[in-house]
Amino acid sequence: MNHITFTPERKKAKISKYIYGQFAEHLGKCIYEGLWVGENSDIPNKNGIRTDVVEALKEINVPVLRWPGGLFADEYHWKDGIGPREKRKKIVNSNWGGTVENNHFGTHEYFELCKQLGTETYINGNVGSGTVQEMQEWIDYMSFPGESPMANLRKENGQEEGWNVDFFGVGNESWGGGGNMRPEYYADLYRQYQTFVRNYTDRKIYKIACGANIDDYNWTEVLMKNAAPFMDGLSLHHYALASEWEDKRPATGFPDEEWFSLIHSAYKMDEFITKHSTIMDKYDPEKRIGLIVDEWGTWLAVEEGTNPGFLYQQNTIRDAMIASITLNIFHKHADRVQMANIAQMVNVLQSMILTDGEKMIKTPTYHVFDMYQNHQDASLIDAVGETSDTISYTASIKEKTVTVSLCNYSITNEEEIVLEVNNESFGNIEAWVLAAKTTDAHNTFETPDNVKKEIYKGYSINESKLTLKMPPMSVVTIVAKN
Ligand code: AHR
Repeated sequence: MNHITFTPERKKAKISKYIYGQFAEHLGKCIYEGLWVGENSDIPNKNGIRTDVVEALKEINVPVLRWPGGLFADEYHWKDGIGPREKRKKIVNSNWGGTVENNHFGTHEYFELCKQLGTETYINGNVGSGTVQEMQEWIDYMSFPGESPMANLRKENGQEEGWNVDFFGVGNESWGGGGNMRPEYYADLYRQYQTFVRNYTDRKIYKIACGANIDDYNWTEVLMKNAAPFMDGLSLHHYALASEWEDKRPATGFPDEEWFSLIHSAYKMDEFITKHSTIMDKYDPEKRIGLIVDEWGTWLAVEEGTNPGFLYQQNTIRDAMIASITLNIFHKHADRVQMANIAQMVNVLQSMILTDGEKMIKTPTYHVFDMYQNHQDASLIDAVGETSDTISYTASIKEKTVTVSLCNYSITNEEEIVLEVNNESFGNIEAWVLAAKTTDAHNTFETPDNVKKEIYKGYSINESKLTLKMPPMSVVTIVAKN
């Protein structure tokens, strides 16, 4: 019997809403087609940005959007993406399929997208192939309120007011595709570049240093030792892989062992965060600096017939399990993890949305983000229990609303779980379930609602105890309002 007891008055860290952040790179059909179709497109759009996708994303409250990469960021020269679109430079997207990047989506279009989504901004700057001057001028262009050469250029391009740059990343994967640097070298470059990421208004830009890949603890050690006072956040990247040999395994039609190997790989996030946090604690015991998991999610084989450089993969109930388990891990580490950005928003890796021309579908991962919305900016609460190994759970409180989310990743077993709340009753309940009958259940453009959240009625309440029956391969969220 599974039993979990919650004590709402024992509040722990606040779960930053930014943990629900997303990432959109100039990669495959994420920006072009997925988000940007241009003003003259037949696909309904507002100022070139597709309306159906924005409407869907608004429903899940995206708090922050990282752009323009990824690897693309370290080859991106922002001046290519401003001014009249027909005059913008065409470049080769050498990281992602060698396609022509016409730069029609640039700085102005990104801020327009964020405005339409109601999301905060996270720009990733170019250290790998850019200069300090280029980065300094971009900050100036975006945010300088008065007269300056760059602010004047922005105004000439139609934007009078400076925009809010909320978060700024200084380089991406500088240990790899962002320059193959040693941590000592990058730490010095970080100190130099960030000096010129100036605050021109009262809104302080949150500066993020490039952090480690998975278990590269030496990177974190060197960065913290040499550059901690100059950063607000330090990043971490971890993708879940179904094979430890790093070959990409199919997103659908996989054997059961790959259900578990992918989940096992996703669970490593807990170990990575714990160990990186321990190093950070040594230099920053107050936990001022956030661990920013600005790339995470599943990395599977591309769909047959698609460009291998576009990273277009299907998204199944297995991805939903991973979204739920990973968000639960982030909650557990809410005292250190201040932001996370799933890779990526549309049509790339573990996306929220898939598009095909004018068609659009929401993925199972989208539904998990939808069901978890109440946890944004809530306080984690004390929860202790004994459960089967295939159950992952989390609970939070915001004002008087307690939200409990659970995942049962058993392929075969329904699990009965008793939730007990100390010193409270459950009050009014709203509950949701996302479940499927096959391990690779997913949505297609023909069957868009095959896997979607449904109202959940599989529970009963007896005073302070709520007993629920969780189907195999399911995510359940219980919202209790007092
Ligand atoms: O998200 C896809 C790629 O994965 C990003 O561009 C890069 O930062 C990472 O290796």
